[in-house]
Amino acid sequence: MITEEQWQDLRARAREAMTKAYAPYSKFPVGVAALVDDGRIVIGANVENASYGLGLCAECSLVSALMMSGGGKLVAFACVDGDGNALMPCGRCRQLLYEHSAEGMLLDTVSGIRTIDEVLPDAFGPRTLRDYQDSH
Ligand code: THU
Repeated sequence: MITEEQWQDLRARAREAMTKAYAPYSKFPVGVAALVDDGRIVIGANVENASYGLGLCAECSLVSALMMSGGGKLVAFACVDGDGNALMPCGRCRQLLYEHSAEGMLLDTVSGIRTIDEVLPDAFGPRTLRDYQDSH
């Protein structure tokens, strides 16, 4: 159960992270923040590149921060645009988040609080590989 206060905090941390974005090409800064299952909060911002296709989404930065600060599973996640409003993670980033999600992970989205399974239904993931490998 994530309280409204915790959501407000995650949104605030995502907005703060957004100010650290490096987005000179798209001029579309993105900030993200997530609550980890041990109570930590990890953040990220997008980091673009002159070779446009190499740009990193904010979620890449968050997942790196998660691993570098001890790992764990993501319980709740917020993503904001340059105005500080809720932004839907792109498809690739939903997959990135899924890999590190706790069961029933919640996301603050443009259409309210959603679970990871709602934003990435029938996901391909670690279990898909395990099940296949176990049966071969
Ligand atoms: N972006 C993110 O950082 N996360 C998303 O989920 C959506 C898109 C970034 C990538 C690029 O730097 C900018 O937004 C414009 O596409």
